[in-house]
Amino acid sequence: MVELIIAYGSSGEHLARAVAKITGFGLTETETRRFPDGELYLRVEGDASGEDVAIIQSLDMRPDRLLMEYCLVADAVRGIGCRTVTAVVPYLAYARQDARFKPGEPISIKLVATLIESAGTDRLISVDAHLHRLKGLDQLFSIPTLNLTAMPLLAKYYAENYRARDIVVVGPDSESEQWAKSVADVLSVEYVILKKERLGDRDVRVSGSVPVKGKRVVVVDDIISTGGTLAEAIRGLRSRGAKRVDVLVTHALLTEGALPRLRKAGMSHLISTDSVPRSSSKVSLAPLIASALKEAKDPLARGNTA
Ligand code: R5P
Repeated sequence: MVELIIAYGSSGEHLARAVAKITGFGLTETETRRFPDGELYLRVEGDASGEDVAIIQSLDMRPDRLLMEYCLVADAVRGIGCRTVTAVVPYLAYARQDARFKPGEPISIKLVATLIESAGTDRLISVDAHLHRLKGLDQLFSIPTLNLTAMPLLAKYYAENYRARDIVVVGPDSESEQWAKSVADVLSVEYVILKKERLGDRDVRVSGSVPVKGKRVVVVDDIISTGGTLAEAIRGLRSRGAKRVDVLVTHALLTEGALPRLRKAGMSHLISTDSVPRSSSKVSLAPLIASALKEAKDPLARGNTA
């Protein structure tokens, strides 16, 4: 087993502590404060001479600030002599901006990948990264990458706590098929995929016909931001007679009153992971990340694909 030191940025501290506890790996603390002009001061404790370090940091809600923080932690652990740096970025921001939709736009996720790599990262691990037009994270990064999925854990939690008959799993758009399938497999039920048309940052139209009369529906997605996508899907399902609609999601950003919007649309329960800590975070990613770190090969080994 590879021994590691776990470091963190401010959005990864809860997972860093939990992963260190599960694995027995050492934990190095990070101290941060703001200079009066808004610049970030950061310092990691201890000595990492010759050690392999995993930095846990999600890029949720304040992605630009948290990305800068990640880069500073990576530089700091390099400065105390570490041998390799693994970025554990459960929520990888900017992944939905993976193309120039209009002339003059950046390919934001490509730049984010470049910044993470150039901060001195040797490997990246993410969870349910939003890969729509891309086949894999290796199309963005030149370092080894691993895209874990929380869907089996979410489905298992649902099966253990909300088990009921007559379930149908629904994905709100084509990208969600991989996640809907994964949940449906664990629950041993059918899944259906709806069609989504994005009308703006906050507006979507979701269409598609699902035979849900009298059924319990489990809607599955990777991200809830404004809740617009899922609220549209839930309204449609309820109007077609779904008895109850629960939601499983990996990254519950829940911006701009998303939770009341989803409740108003007819959602019963929301279950998410702790990639972003929320009241809905019933499933921790710590065991998943801990196993990935324990099993991962040396990121510097020749031909390693993590
Ligand atoms: C995009 O396709 C994602 O999978 C989510 O469906 C989307 O990001 C959710 O955003 P919102 O909650 O704002 O509709």
